[in-house]
Amino acid sequence: MGCERTPLAVALALALLLGLAHGDVVQFIFGDSLSDVGNNNYLTKSLARAALPWYGIDFGSGMPNGRFCNGRTVADIIGDKMGLPRPPAFLDPSVDETVIAKSGLNYASGGGGILNETSSLFIQRFSLYKQIELFQGTQAFMREKIGRAAADKLFGEAYYVVAMGANDFINNYLLPVYSDSWTYNGDTFVKYMVTTLEAQLRLLHGLGARRVTFFGLGPMGCIPLQRLLQRSSTACQESTNKLALSFNKQAGAVIRELAASLPNATFQFGDVYDYFQDIIDRPYMHGFNNSHAPCCTLGKVRPTLTCTPLSTLCKDRSKYVFWDEYHPTDRANELIALETLKRLNITVVANTTSS
Ligand SMILES: *[C@@H]1O[C@H](CO)[C@@H](O)[C@H](O)[C@H]1NC(C)=O
Ligand SMILES: *[C@@H]1O[C@H](CO)[C@@H](O)[C@H](O)[C@H]1NC(C)=O
Ligand SMILES: *[C@@H]1O[C@H](CO)[C@@H](O)[C@H](O)[C@H]1NC(C)=O
Ligand SMILES: *[C@@H]1O[C@H](CO)[C@@H](O)[C@H](O)[C@H]1NC(C)=O
Ligand SMILES: *[C@@H]1O[C@H](CO)[C@@H](O)[C@H](O)[C@H]1NC(C)=O
Repeated sequence: MGCERTPLAVALALALLLGLAHGDVVQFIFGDSLSDVGNNNYLTKSLARAALPWYGIDFGSGMPNGRFCNGRTVADIIGDKMGLPRPPAFLDPSVDETVIAKSGLNYASGGGGILNETSSLFIQRFSLYKQIELFQGTQAFMREKIGRAAADKLFGEAYYVVAMGANDFINNYLLPVYSDSWTYNGDTFVKYMVTTLEAQLRLLHGLGARRVTFFGLGPMGCIPLQRLLQRSSTACQESTNKLALSFNKQAGAVIRELAASLPNATFQFGDVYDYFQDIIDRPYMHGFNNSHAPCCTLGKVRPTLTCTPLSTLCKDRSKYVFWDEYHPTDRANELIALETLKRLNITVVANTTSS
């Protein structure tokens, strides 16, 4: 009788087996400053770094950690809610095969764009092609360390987040110092970006990525810097918002086409543009008090492009939509993340409230 198994024991053994067979599911994140968790802090020549107070003031110890925010990024919050570990920065010196197998990696870099030439004035940043190249290096490294089968399983089961595109406008097309600004018009530039993005997403699929979510752009004409550039008013730059909408429309179409044609792949497009616009238009309805000025600012000496130790902070950071001239606050990111999860029908498995 001792070796006779009850159905419950069999079920438990099966569950254990399945659990083991699934292993750890991790994320690989590609993006710009909205998703950077420290890479640019290791790029010592980069002009886009979140290395000084008051960045990170509402995260962990409150010291700068490389995030261009007071707290968490949208990708932090979405991953948390899905019960996934937070991937460390690719350049974090403590990263090894154990860390990658357990938590994945984040290649996001402030200033990074879909196009190689974007943000060249920042001197150092990882463009999306560069990030994918680094990812290929990670794949080779993991195959050598944990074996091809285990590595392929890790990469095949992982979630991939790609969140890019704002810099291609703000730190390329819209600045006359970049040749793209006089080579293209709005339509041809968006087409150029979307064609490049499609090639990049196909490349990722070819490398084994199967669950890919691309995040569309927000109303980037409403970031404090864009409003300031209008001089005459504090209104959003509608022409910039039109570019974002046009990009979202075409990128969404490309992703739906990839989802329908690529074998065994789930490609999703996360688009909450209209929701973010509503937060900006009706801040009070969403619990904010200010949706036009940065919380961290030098006041009259605007725009200081980054938040600095000399800047003053707003009284209540959870009441501001924008943290600095470019980036939303932790609270705004939280609302954006929750709405994204809702629209992608992603089940929330864990509720973390703190950073
Ligand atoms: C973009 O940069 C990558 C390296 O990061 C390079 O391999 C690729 O050829 C470049 N593409 C273009 C179109 O310049
Ligand atoms: C799709 O997935 C199935 C089951 O995992 C596998 O047998 C098949 O080879 C995959 N097809 C491609 C083209 O990857
Ligand atoms: C909300 O904004 C008003 C006007 O800008 C300001 O007087 C008030 O102190 C703000 N309240 C909070 C909680 O930040
Ligand atoms: C989410 O679920 C709703 C209702 O079931 C459906 O209409 C919608 O297409 C789904 N969205 C996605 C992205 O799967
Ligand atoms: C997370 O919190 C939300 C809102 O409070 C709740 O509806 C949901 O059931 C919670 N989910 C889990 C897994 O605890």
